[in-house]
Amino acid sequence: MKIGIFVHSQSGNTAKLGLAVTHALREKGHDVSIELLRPVGKVGLWTRNVNFRTMPEPEEYDVLLFGGPNWAFGTSPLIVSLLKQLSSLKGKKTLFFLTSLLPDSLSGAKRGIARVNDLCEGLGATVLPAISVVWGLYCGKKRLDAAVEKICGLIKD
Ligand SMILES: Cc1cc2nc3c(=O)[nH]c(=O)nc-3n(C[C@H](O)[C@H](O)[C@H](O)COP(=O)(O)O)c2cc1C
Repeated sequence: MKIGIFVHSQSGNTAKLGLAVTHALREKGHDVSIELLRPVGKVGLWTRNVNFRTMPEPEEYDVLLFGGPNWAFGTSPLIVSLLKQLSSLKGKKTLFFLTSLLPDSLSGAKRGIARVNDLCEGLGATVLPAISVVWGLYCGKKRLDAAVEKICGLIKD
């Protein structure tokens, strides 16, 4: 399958996960592209309308993965803004992965996931279960591998 992975990552955690997922999916024979979302100008907690240097082209993919950090008990404003600018995800599968500092019960990950999944659903996508990764201050190989396995396990023809 053709898979596009679009990642917002400020300090590198979500990018590291995205890259590990890319390698694992390629090993399974998928055609995978990964792109770091690049905004024009600075993005802060309260940024709402982000302009992107390049916009993803969903038509090119069967499955689109969106990855971002948990910001302010929710999700990345880049991912939200990106989804608001897409016109359709009909016929596509989407999967969102989120990294957080805090455990799920405190981090607000659930709220962020609901927000992103609602937007994907609204665009007509078949939404796969999101994966929330408690990164903490450091995510060791075992936890990273487990997250990669979970994500890859959800992507089937
Ligand atoms: C502005 C900002 C807000 C954050 N808010 C939260 C939060 O509400 N809950 C949480 O668990 N982590 C929060 N974090 C921590 C990040 O979600 C976490 O470190 C994440 O793994 C960073 O991903 P990145 O390295 O890809 O940017 C926040 C980080 C930043 C910079």
